[in-house]
Amino acid sequence: MTQRKKTPEALRSNRWYGPQDLRSFGHRSRTLQMGYSHEDYKGKPVIAIINTWSDVSHCHSHFKERVEDVKRGVWQAGGFPLEMPAITLAEVLQKPTTMMYRNFLAMETEELLRCYPADGCVLMGGCDKTGPGLLMGALSMNLPTIFVPAGPMLTGRWAGKTLGSGSDVWKYWDELRAGNITPRDWKEIEEGIARSPGTCMTMGTASTMTSVIETLGFSLPNASAIPAPDSSHPRMASLSGRRIVDMVWEDLKPRDILTTRSVDNAIKVLMALGGSTNALIHVVAIAGRAGIELPLDRFEEIGKASPYLVNMRPAGKYLMEDFYYAGGLTGLLEGMRDMLDTGELTCTGRTIGENIAGSRIYNDDVIRTPADPIRPDGGLIVLRGNLAPDGAVIKANAADPKLLQHTGRAMVFNDYNDMAARIDSPDLDVDADSVLILRNAGPLGGPGMPEWGMLPIPKKLLKQGVRDMVRISDARMSGTSYGTCVLHVAPESWIGGPLALVRTGDLVELDVPARTLALKISDEELAQRKAAWKPNPPRFTRGYGAIFSQHVSQANRGCDFDFLEGTDPTAEPEIH
Ligand code: FES
Repeated sequence: MTQRKKTPEALRSNRWYGPQDLRSFGHRSRTLQMGYSHEDYKGKPVIAIINTWSDVSHCHSHFKERVEDVKRGVWQAGGFPLEMPAITLAEVLQKPTTMMYRNFLAMETEELLRCYPADGCVLMGGCDKTGPGLLMGALSMNLPTIFVPAGPMLTGRWAGKTLGSGSDVWKYWDELRAGNITPRDWKEIEEGIARSPGTCMTMGTASTMTSVIETLGFSLPNASAIPAPDSSHPRMASLSGRRIVDMVWEDLKPRDILTTRSVDNAIKVLMALGGSTNALIHVVAIAGRAGIELPLDRFEEIGKASPYLVNMRPAGKYLMEDFYYAGGLTGLLEGMRDMLDTGELTCTGRTIGENIAGSRIYNDDVIRTPADPIRPDGGLIVLRGNLAPDGAVIKANAADPKLLQHTGRAMVFNDYNDMAARIDSPDLDVDADSVLILRNAGPLGGPGMPEWGMLPIPKKLLKQGVRDMVRISDARMSGTSYGTCVLHVAPESWIGGPLALVRTGDLVELDVPARTLALKISDEELAQRKAAWKPNPPRFTRGYGAIFSQHVSQANRGCDFDFLEGTDPTAEPEIH
């Protein structure tokens, strides 16, 4: 039974609808204009449904209908649902990268909630940057919030084999370039790899982040694992709509839910999932919106003691449907209960320990327990050294173990176009031991830190059978990617970070067990190169790009805007 802490008069929306004055007359008459009656909204919580659907949003194509399920739940529970579309971040189609617009979505979410009569909100997202962007904005506004994840798409199929989003694209692209599959095969793969609405069904950034957001406490139990086309998905959406109304009456707000302990739980789950490297950026930014400082070292500390438990691509074998049938996130969490702070409050009004009680694991080849892990540590490793003074990241469990301690000659590409123009040249001076370096792919240099960090293997080496090499960049990489890719090098090369100073032929040493990344030149030589380095002009002089250029932080700080971090209260609009 809901513990009501609010009266209808205390609802935020009552400031718009309640007073008998000129302005409120306008608010009421214009609501009536839309066909609603007084009975539809009077004295009820107004629930803003922030929907990231659009015709271009491939992973959210079902949200056009699914929002009606959310509304059904809101109506049933005595709320007044108002759908508010927000910017679409269609991962694959948006250029230069959705990451450039994550903060845009966060700002839009915050401002939609601020300037309209919202008492609480349902966030509808899932494709990579949408979950973090929506949650960041909602945390800043701090109104009761529940997150409805889009859910993963169905397993891909081709020629009797399963196909995983992203991971099998990279794999078969290399096989096509090596001449091992035909253009017809490639076309059939194109037709079979994305078979339904929903997010990538590997443990890429989308499934990593929806699992993290659920663990933080913002989705109903196991919501993140339900495949988008499954009938459980609209039921979950409707239940989320019902629940948010009670959350408003209970005055249960995001910053009551997000704490340092729930963030630690989420990092443990990230490690258990073998999740996306992108999560290290997003979790830092999300925590920052609740005023929680989260240095990269915290991932390292927790990661060392957190086992890798879920056998999913790109690091493992299975896909999200298998994960759901094996017990899903609640099965995983129950299996690792002893590692978690189970007293953390969630959107259900209960603790995470109460939410997962009785959940089971049905297939221990998909979901292991800490007593029988795939690896004893999480595999998301933070590196430091003279090449990455503020840190870099590698997903060690998706890398060739032979390359985790490696020294090789650098082959430097100054930017993406330089790399694309030369990578397949027969004259490229590389061998299997070379270290490929891509620069000017960071937050400012990319711009937007595109997912270019899984540099392609040069064609001439592919033909020799090489399938992995050490690659280093200030870019991100897709959560569905794999290989020995050192990412997020900070500070980035565009602003003169050490990656800008590497020259082709320099020796570079990667030592994952020692957590180091080193350019093997003297400090004096490094200082001389730094002194000779010339700053780049801004990428943008107008529009959102100019705001982005002036305010985005580096990867180790979460790439948030400096003026959006922290918990300064968002000013409520004056009504009159
Ligand atoms: Fe949308 Fe992967 S492209 S989740």
